[in-house]
Amino acid sequence: MPGISEKLQKKLLFNPDGTRELGQQRLVGGKSTNLIEFANCKYSWAEQLYRKMRQFFWIPDEIPLGDDKRQFPKLTEYEQSAYKKTLAFLIFLDSIQVDNLGALALYITAPEVVACLKTQAFFETIHAQSYDYLLTSVVDSLTRDEVYTMWKDDSILLTRNKFITDQYQEFIDNPNEKAFIRSCMADYLLEGIYFYSGFAFFYSLGRQDKMGGTVSLIRLIQRDENTHLALFTHILRTLQEENPEWFDADIKAELLSMLKTAVDHEISWGKYVTRNQILGLSDSIIESYIKYLGNLRAEAIGLGSPYGNIKHPMPWVDTYAAMNSTKTDFFERKVTNYQKFGGSMKFDNLKPPS
Ligand SMILES: [Fe+2]
Ligand SMILES: [Fe+2]
Repeated sequence: MPGISEKLQKKLLFNPDGTRELGQQRLVGGKSTNLIEFANCKYSWAEQLYRKMRQFFWIPDEIPLGDDKRQFPKLTEYEQSAYKKTLAFLIFLDSIQVDNLGALALYITAPEVVACLKTQAFFETIHAQSYDYLLTSVVDSLTRDEVYTMWKDDSILLTRNKFITDQYQEFIDNPNEKAFIRSCMADYLLEGIYFYSGFAFFYSLGRQDKMGGTVSLIRLIQRDENTHLALFTHILRTLQEENPEWFDADIKAELLSMLKTAVDHEISWGKYVTRNQILGLSDSIIESYIKYLGNLRAEAIGLGSPYGNIKHPMPWVDTYAAMNSTKTDFFERKVTNYQKFGGSMKFDNLKPPS
């Protein structure tokens, strides 16, 4: 394609060669004006995703946590431990996301996709704020300190967080096509695999009528994460369509290997956090669930079904996540479950049908 670089290049903020002609636009290496123009943009999926993300705006500290504060000391020792470890994990990666999305956006030449990345970063900030709100509202200050330093005190947590942040850092330090693809893949795995045993743990508490405020926050967070997953699915697919020469056998093997590592990490983390002591979350169920998700994520970006034929082992989790669905009517689904009444939030239908 004339005038289009085959190498990944940081975009010019002011681009004298920018044009509004859609035929000249690409996800990276395009001739963008950098002006956000939703009525005339190449990637309609990004325009729709942006509008969906914006509709989902919510305010964490409007969800009451008084009952959670009273219930936390009554949780079992294992539930308290899993609660703290899961939050420590979520806090670390959601916070890192805020910065890293900006690093990727410097190379994206489609303003409508940049709009999605910046909006995602804003929502990751809301998520980080949610965890901060949970820890200041539900547990004492010593526990809060313990959770905020767990990322370096817990070697298992450190290893799995580093797997993602190493990919991010490598691209920032040495920006090239393959490092960019790996960084996008790490984002995809974080959004699509890494959070899921943690979400399932909170939903298992919800099933027992425990920690309802925390569960409401997590459901809103998962609703957002599904839009982020959709965004990175589109980014990886578009990169592949527009730059087939970058996706040689080596990088495809690497992406599949990254996916399998993420699945292994999530399974061992899920087992480590729950200790086979959380109702509805046995070790074997966690393993099947994460492999089931691994298949979905691999299939969505053309990497086959690495785990064969695995059925969803706990469909009740999807009942909790139902308001988040991206599978069927993602773009048509109306905003639900979040209505503001005189400054407080009403969550009539956050509890799934029993
Ligand atoms: Fe998040
Ligand atoms: Fe996210």
